[in-house]
Amino acid sequence: MDKLIETKELYTNFYTYEGTVRALNGVSLSMKPGETYGLVGESGCGKSVSVRSMMRIVQSPGKIESGQINLFMSDKDHQKGIDILKRSETYMQSVRGNSISMIFQEASSSLNPVLKIGDQVGESFVFHRHEEMVKEAIDRLLEKSEKSSNGLANFFRNISVKLLQSELNSIEKYDLKVAEIDKELLEIEDNEDEASIARKHSLNFWRDRCQEYNFLIKIQRKIPILNAYQRGIGKAIRRNVLQLLTELGIPNPSNIIDRYPHELSGGMQQRIVIAIALACHPELLIADEPTSNLDVTIQAQILDMIKDLKKTKISSVLFITHDLGVIAEVCDRVSVMYAGDVCETATVKDLFKNPQHPYTKGLLNSVPKVEQGEKLATIPGVVPNLVTPPSGCRFHPRCPYAMEICKNEKPEIFELNDEHSTSCHLYSQKEDK
Ligand SMILES: Nc1ncnc2c1ncn2[C@@H]1O[C@H](COP(=O)(O)OP(=O)(O)OP(=O)(O)O)[C@@H](O)[C@H]1O
Ligand code: SF4
Ligand SMILES: [Mg+2]
Repeated sequence: MDKLIETKELYTNFYTYEGTVRALNGVSLSMKPGETYGLVGESGCGKSVSVRSMMRIVQSPGKIESGQINLFMSDKDHQKGIDILKRSETYMQSVRGNSISMIFQEASSSLNPVLKIGDQVGESFVFHRHEEMVKEAIDRLLEKSEKSSNGLANFFRNISVKLLQSELNSIEKYDLKVAEIDKELLEIEDNEDEASIARKHSLNFWRDRCQEYNFLIKIQRKIPILNAYQRGIGKAIRRNVLQLLTELGIPNPSNIIDRYPHELSGGMQQRIVIAIALACHPELLIADEPTSNLDVTIQAQILDMIKDLKKTKISSVLFITHDLGVIAEVCDRVSVMYAGDVCETATVKDLFKNPQHPYTKGLLNSVPKVEQGEKLATIPGVVPNLVTPPSGCRFHPRCPYAMEICKNEKPEIFELNDEHSTSCHLYSQKEDK
């Protein structure tokens, strides 16, 4: 199976005063390139912690304890995958925003209240498409010089072009250096002998210390008269921000970019958060409950926007929600999570038609139906406190089919077919017969 990203037996804990929260209990997921993959489950079941772990942004007091997160993003990584847990923080910075972007739960809290919208979207261009912006600024200046006959203006334009080119050279040298380090790391990734482990440490150390700008450029960026050349980069960023907002169908973008987040509606804030995530053309967009707290009309608009983007701008989407209706509308495949475990993975059609895990069945039965006359079914009990999670299958205290083995042993994953798997002892019992 072609893969884009996978987690294998991922364990993440939070070390709190109350005790250790065992948030992820060996999560294994696998996403294919080009698909919209859903992650669904009740509140507190570990959806956000799973994707935060996948981007290595679990906040303190959280820690990824063990497991693998393999990325198969660029062509060179496709066969083998890179275990990002073994890579340096700067490597992750190059992945976040470049290959993977994330829309966080709660749009309003992911926007900075004291920065204008244009600056917040522009920040993505500064961090992830800086080289492109510098090139665009150089081209514009050269174009203007060609058209203008004002000698003095052209003199200053030429100085700006020279300074921008020195910045571009420095970025290109940096890119070359980190590409060399990444290549060597990939070659020795699986070697576990002493010399290779030491080499991996030193390569990761040097990758973290590589500087994008040399000493001279740092100085030229700080001196007020000299750094005027950066206005060209600022203009290029503003043009690109406007173009992006227009492409996303945001009305009146030239007015929006000069506003602060509190001046926008919830739906508009969510669109801006999506624009920030898309600014760097990610291969994978992770959307963590992008429609929670929005009314149904706006929710439908945002879902339509993500579906359209899937056709035009981004190839793969990982969609997190607790709403099975949303899963049915946007996803190709889905994993159901409960208390830090993945219970079932299937195509959306299969999951709705032929659910296998008792928790999935319970979730589907608790969706209200229009023609339903009798009382709505619910899953008895609540999601457990993960400081003291139930032993064995974490769902056993709420499961109508629980057996003795369920209290003692964590069920393995059973492949029902190529596309459908579940983690439940009912299937091990069937296999044993
Ligand atoms: N910073 C933290 N400190 C301590 N525990 C945490 C922290 N963040 C998450 N957890 C715990 O990890 C578990 C999983 O939380 P997570 O946020 O992933 O749930 P979720 O499935 O995204 O829920 P929701 O649908 O409400 O967003 C919960 O038990 C939660 O209490
Ligand atoms: S393993 Fe046991 S408790 Fe868990 S879902 Fe299956 S039957 Fe229920
Ligand atoms: Mg969440």
